[in-house]
Amino acid sequence: MAPDTLSLAGKVAIVTGSGRENGIGASIAKTLARNGAAVTINYVSESSAVKAEKVAQSIRDEFGVGVALVRANVATPEGCDKIVSETLSQLGVDHVDILVNNAGVVEACTLAQADRALLERIFGVNVYGTIFMTQAALGLGKMPRGGRVIHIGSVGSKIEAPGIDVYGASKAAQDFLTSSWARELGRSRGITVNTVAPGVIVSDMSEDVIDIVGPFVALQRGENRAGKPEEVADVVLFLASEKSGWMTAQYVAVDAGLTTTAI
Ligand SMILES: NC(=O)c1ccc[n+]([C@@H]2O[C@H](COP(=O)([O-])OP(=O)(O)OC[C@H]3O[C@@H](n4cnc5c(N)ncnc54)[C@H](OP(=O)(O)O)[C@@H]3O)[C@@H](O)[C@H]2O)c1
Repeated sequence: MAPDTLSLAGKVAIVTGSGRENGIGASIAKTLARNGAAVTINYVSESSAVKAEKVAQSIRDEFGVGVALVRANVATPEGCDKIVSETLSQLGVDHVDILVNNAGVVEACTLAQADRALLERIFGVNVYGTIFMTQAALGLGKMPRGGRVIHIGSVGSKIEAPGIDVYGASKAAQDFLTSSWARELGRSRGITVNTVAPGVIVSDMSEDVIDIVGPFVALQRGENRAGKPEEVADVVLFLASEKSGWMTAQYVAVDAGLTTTAI
């Protein structure tokens, strides 16, 4: 029987796109580290280098766990292999227990504006990145029985948000990977795969499309405010823990009841 705790002591976790202090990824990395996991902070933009170093250092100082810091692009297999190999070498470990596919890209566009370059930017990170990163964590990272793959999806895969339908389509593709990989990885390797889908959460990303997503706050059933990254991170903690072992292929909305509201 799993111990009666959410402790992740001894576990190794990778959280992609976790270099911005105010982002969901950094909050997830902090929450997993607070509960004992060694974590990898990943970023891609030069403009996030200093922020990511600060996130990594604050986790080391506050929680005393191992922290790896890796600049790499999840949209390429080479970038994902680098994240995993640096995790193993910087942390001095031989496997990865928990993968949180958090890195994401949103861009508003009309149908006519959805050209190949835009599609490659959005699907390259949200879909290809999820696939390449999971392959790397399973292969190079030798994810063991009891491993956890958690996708940070979006309620945008379920509800229409005018202008961000390409983003919603990419997140719907990611949802499908959750349900099919749960079978493949559950049967063969005892690994669970779940999606945590944020609603409107305060971050740089939501600020970029606030005209589109801001009005959704009024449609929530919960409090009349945007959510906080920590409120997403706490749900990820449960799914990362041994307590969630019989839960797989799930889509867990963290959205103050927005998804199930009739709109
Ligand atoms: N905020 C919301 O309201 C909301 C709602 C629903 C779903 N989500 C999802 O939650 C996740 C986190 O969102 P957020 O709002 O916290 O975003 P954010 O941190 O403000 O920005 C996106 C993050 O993704 C990283 N990233 C983008 N492209 C990458 C690449 N090619 N390789 C590695 N990292 C890359 C960025 O890294 P750099 O800093 O290096 O650029 C950044 O840390 C995303 O998957 C998003 O779709 C957010």
